[in-house]
Amino acid sequence: MRVLSGIQPTGRFHWGNYFGAIRQYIDLQDEDESYYFIANLHALTTVRDAERLHQLSLDAAIDLLALGLDPDKAILFIQSDVPQVSELCWILMTGAPMGLLERCHAYKAKKDKGLKADAGLFTYPVLMAADILAYDSDCVPVGEDQVQHIEVCRDLAGSFNHEFGRGEEVFTLPKAKLLDDSAKVPGTDGEKMSKSYNNTIELFEPVKPQRKKIMRIQTDSRPMEEPKDPETDHLFQLYRLFANEEERESMASLYRAGGFGYGEVKKALAYLSEKYFAEAREKRAELEAAPERVEEILQDGAAKARRKAGEVLDRVKKACGVSS
Ligand code: ADP
Ligand code: TRP
Repeated sequence: MRVLSGIQPTGRFHWGNYFGAIRQYIDLQDEDESYYFIANLHALTTVRDAERLHQLSLDAAIDLLALGLDPDKAILFIQSDVPQVSELCWILMTGAPMGLLERCHAYKAKKDKGLKADAGLFTYPVLMAADILAYDSDCVPVGEDQVQHIEVCRDLAGSFNHEFGRGEEVFTLPKAKLLDDSAKVPGTDGEKMSKSYNNTIELFEPVKPQRKKIMRIQTDSRPMEEPKDPETDHLFQLYRLFANEEERESMASLYRAGGFGYGEVKKALAYLSEKYFAEAREKRAELEAAPERVEEILQDGAAKARRKAGEVLDRVKKACGVSS
């Protein structure tokens, strides 16, 4: 089975990205083959600053490696290093119904708000389909918000197969694998953690400001004496991400008994989260000090990805008559 997923470098990764996506990608790297890429071409639809996009893309790759993505197991690369994907995107675009793309939520949400969208946002799902189909991917781990795009990909691939396949499958039809808890990590204000809400705790922000941020997580104003339900408290939801079973149970009992302050939970959260990511932080510092090593990993990944995408593109071009 071939697993593939991409992540956009539109900001530094936060706890939501890690627990909702990255950790699970890393768990899947032991499958037969896995491809992970930094979706810089998608990010270009929102990040319009060359220096920043370049840096965020590199940071994203270093973060994934520091968090345990193993280049001996998974193929890691930058999306734009595989030009075959953009060519494939055009071919898919020629058969992509306007109505299908008009229903896609990223474009629709912007249009419904009366904002002007560009063709990049409108055709975003087609580029995503090309990303997936270029490697004959079988399984695409994604959060709930991306499931619609996988459906679009299957639609486009199915129509192409029907139109040009002469009974054979030109494209492999992928399946979405819904990531666990992909919508669940709360931010510092209790809403879903997201860079668009400005409520994130970034994975690798310096420890001191991060601690301060944790101490400022919003909590309700119930008196200290009052017993509280841990299950409905976002601070506890964050704490449980890092706690082992024993720590989780004893914190839950504290909540139920009452008579404690949220400050204690925040301190415990800061302590456990620092410990949790300590090794990754160290690894990140090492990688940052060895940019040539990171470059080598990305180039090696891109070469492997180009090889596979080249094979698929040849097959597709022959099928639709744009190559001899
Ligand atoms: P953001 O909302 O900060 O812009 P993205 O949309 O780039 O994050 O998300 C990248 C990945 O991280 C997606 O797979 C998404 O499902 C996951 N993710 C983002 N925020 C959270 C969260 N708060 N809880 C769980 N998963 C999340
Ligand atoms: N659109 C995805 C997101 O915002 C990122 C992405 C781009 C992707 N291409 C992909 C994910 C292909 C899975 C497969 O999260």
